[in-house]
Amino acid sequence: MIKKTYHTNHVVTMFVSHYCRPLVLILILITFCLLINLNDSLPSYNYFHICEDPLDNATDPNFQSNISPLLDFISSKASFHSFYNDSIIISSSSRIYALFLCRGAVSNNTCQNCTRTASQEIRTQCASNTSAIIWYDTCMLRYSNKNFFGEEQTSPLAFTGNITNTTTPSAIQAYRDEQTLMYQLIKEASSTDMLFKTGKSVGGNESESGYGLVQCTRDINSSSCHSCLHQLMKEADKCCQHKFGWRVMAPSCNIRYERYNFYNQTCAPPESLPPLPHSQGKRRYLKAKFLAIHVIPIAVVAALTVLVWFSCLHWKKRKIGRTDDEILVKSLKSSSRHLKEQGHGDNSGDMHYFSLSTIKVATNYFSDDAKLGEGGFGPVFKGKLSNGREIAVKRLSFKSTQGLEEFKNEVLLIAKLQHRNLVKLLGCCVGENEKLLVYEYMANTSLDAFLFDPIKRVELDWSKRVRIINGIAKGLVYLHEDSRLKIIHRDLKASNVLLDEEMNPKISDFGTARMFGGNQNEASTDKVVGTYGYMAPEYALEGLFSIKSDVYSFGVLMLEIMNGRKNSGFYLQERGCGESLLSYAWRLWSVGKGVEFMDPMLVISCPKNQALRWIHIGLLCVQERPKDRPIMSSVIVMLGSAINLPLPSAPPFSVGRYFASDQSSTSAKDIEFQPSPGRY
Ligand SMILES: *[C@@H]1O[C@H](CO)[C@@H](O)[C@H](O)[C@H]1NC(C)=O
Ligand SMILES: *[C@@H]1O[C@H](CO)[C@@H](O)[C@H](O)[C@H]1NC(C)=O
Ligand SMILES: *[C@@H]1O[C@H](CO)[C@@H](O)[C@H](O)[C@H]1NC(C)=O
Ligand SMILES: *[C@@H]1O[C@H](CO)[C@@H](O)[C@H](O)[C@H]1NC(C)=O
Ligand SMILES: *[C@@H]1O[C@H](CO)[C@@H](O)[C@H](O)[C@H]1NC(C)=O
Ligand SMILES: *[C@@H]1O[C@H](CO)[C@@H](O)[C@H](O)[C@H]1NC(C)=O
Ligand SMILES: *[C@@H]1O[C@H](CO)[C@@H](O)[C@H](O)[C@H]1NC(C)=O
Ligand SMILES: *[C@@H]1O[C@H](CO)[C@@H](O)[C@H](O)[C@H]1NC(C)=O
Ligand SMILES: *[C@@H]1O[C@H](CO)[C@@H](O)[C@H](O)[C@H]1NC(C)=O
Ligand SMILES: *[C@@H]1O[C@H](CO)[C@@H](O)[C@H](O)[C@H]1NC(C)=O
Ligand SMILES: *[C@@H]1O[C@H](CO)[C@@H](O)[C@H](O)[C@H]1NC(C)=O
Repeated sequence: MIKKTYHTNHVVTMFVSHYCRPLVLILILITFCLLINLNDSLPSYNYFHICEDPLDNATDPNFQSNISPLLDFISSKASFHSFYNDSIIISSSSRIYALFLCRGAVSNNTCQNCTRTASQEIRTQCASNTSAIIWYDTCMLRYSNKNFFGEEQTSPLAFTGNITNTTTPSAIQAYRDEQTLMYQLIKEASSTDMLFKTGKSVGGNESESGYGLVQCTRDINSSSCHSCLHQLMKEADKCCQHKFGWRVMAPSCNIRYERYNFYNQTCAPPESLPPLPHSQGKRRYLKAKFLAIHVIPIAVVAALTVLVWFSCLHWKKRKIGRTDDEILVKSLKSSSRHLKEQGHGDNSGDMHYFSLSTIKVATNYFSDDAKLGEGGFGPVFKGKLSNGREIAVKRLSFKSTQGLEEFKNEVLLIAKLQHRNLVKLLGCCVGENEKLLVYEYMANTSLDAFLFDPIKRVELDWSKRVRIINGIAKGLVYLHEDSRLKIIHRDLKASNVLLDEEMNPKISDFGTARMFGGNQNEASTDKVVGTYGYMAPEYALEGLFSIKSDVYSFGVLMLEIMNGRKNSGFYLQERGCGESLLSYAWRLWSVGKGVEFMDPMLVISCPKNQALRWIHIGLLCVQERPKDRPIMSSVIVMLGSAINLPLPSAPPFSVGRYFASDQSSTSAKDIEFQPSPGRY
């Protein structure tokens, strides 16, 4: 009886203290981000959005459950339409109205991608409002619980532009050309069915040409369109006279003028122009919005931070007790006994408990010289036991119990696992508020240290990469299918693949791994932990994980190894075209140019056919639907033989922007992006 209350109490303590630190950290981070945002008010994304009308208790209770299906439906129309409006009935007296408009003359694909992205983003940005508009470069999307179809609306407005003033001697002439062009376009656009027109100014000198675009949503008629665009020209005159380039966006129409051909580029340069400074008084709306967007949240978040901080301190004070360690050891021992009774334990998997003094001596009292690196849960030290064996010691955060759950998880799981492609846990050590994990030492650090290093990458020739890919695959097969437990790693990535002195790969970091019992094949979680770029879409968005989400991460890793670049951040190098490493691989491979995808270091040394085949296998692993992805044992067979491979479907175009169209109740879960949680 006593024991039981003890345990419950422990769990609560653990829960609170476990989340305290991350919570405070996250709050501080948010404040920081908001502050940065305040400093230069530069949108780091290429869209503008306006949320209106708070979602309050007067809002129809069905509003929130219906907005996603409606937006999903609307955006699904974007593959065949460049404009679509529709409404959904949510109760006898109310509806939600939504529309999207793609820039005229963009491809179906672009329109679809843009609309999808917009419909995802606006749900996040305006989650607590009943009306919202979002503008991207190539599309806009709008919804409201009021019927706005057919109404000409020129407010609220959003502006953006290149704040550089034109300084050429012919500025006056340039302005005249600009005005001539824009009014001409307006005249022409309102008489076309598309209510869209682009054009180039005719003013003599080529280097001074301007390019214009005008467009209206097609729910309004031609005369409304004409008047809408005229009003925007007046707004443009106020904000943007003599500016190098500018854009004015209203709900019913938008206009844009640039000195380069923006409407005819398949890949527009990233649009991160700051909003224009607004003339005083007239832009009260935007000023209020600025306050609402920046100042209020900062105040709130700061207050929250202080509050949480104090309650954390309070908790800590209350639980000052030396019994924590004892409880932990007890709980570890009883859990491992439990596992063994269930027949899960290998005999060899018994936990070795090192004494703290042994570890202190081995690591030279955690000296800085012995430090190998810093992980998310604490530093990692190199050590040498008295018998000469080299070890790596992960020292979990020393003052708090943060990471306790991960610690316990890792100890229990990995102690039972024995495979040459998994890093071996030699034991653990608990005492004096220290929690230490002791691993075998890996001489060549981790895969990312080689793969993403421009110099060390050379050492990874084709045969080494083959060995690494095969090794990771074998380790995963063991986790998924061969060990007596079924284990989902959930955070497979280059930095979690360690390399021994012979460059054999070993999967590490089981802090986030989950064990499945019996016939369970899939689980879901509210706490999505993983690393951006490696998470399967169904996991990142819906918290669903299975062995197939690990297969996805493996596919990403495999393509990274073949290409030598990171999936996350890849699009930055490709100048903002929204292309991921995966879609890049797909694009080249599907037209028979797979070799161009290969790391230039490899092109000479790799057998072309094998390389193409392996890209193919990587693409099979990153398919959007989990059931299309092969299981790891099939991957091994594919890697090692010449059997025919099925054709892959295109990879999801971007996790995070992905949306599930056949899922009527997708709710965006908060994604917790974990910093690299240490090498071991
Ligand atoms: C959006 O909703 C929030 C929360 O309901 C509200 O505070 C805010 O004022 C709304 N925005 C506008 C522009 O009405
Ligand atoms: C709804 O909001 C009004 C004020 O806007 C408030 O007086 C009322 O108590 C609220 N009703 C409920 C059920 O919360
Ligand atoms: C693209 O959209 C047009 C209509 O705007 C449609 O006729 C065409 O079939 C679409 N193409 C594809 C590949 O879906
Ligand atoms: C849109 O996404 C598809 C895959 O869903 C991709 O093939 C295509 O290249 C993308 N188009 C653009 C313009 O990003
Ligand atoms: C604004 O226009 C000037 C002149 O062409 C150009 O040099 C500058 O890079 C532009 N600024 C931005 C942010 O695009
Ligand atoms: C641009 O010109 C206006 C006056 O026409 C001036 O007030 C403004 O400061 C100038 N901006 C820059 C960035 O030079
Ligand atoms: C165009 O204008 C620029 C500067 O305004 C000038 O340097 C250039 O010579 C002109 N080109 C022609 C073809 O007139
Ligand atoms: C789209 O908007 C027009 C108003 O311009 C309206 O007549 C039409 O019914 C709307 N379409 C749908 C499907 O609601
Ligand atoms: C266009 O729509 C507006 C507003 O709905 C209406 O007042 C006007 O009569 C319409 N014009 C034409 C030519 O249909
Ligand atoms: C884009 O440019 C090409 C030639 O460079 C031209 O044929 C095409 O009509 C242009 N498209 C638009 C929308 O202006
Ligand atoms: C890997 O480690 C061993 C032993 O420290 C070393 O001899 C070897 O050069 C390393 N390999 C690479 C590629 O750095």
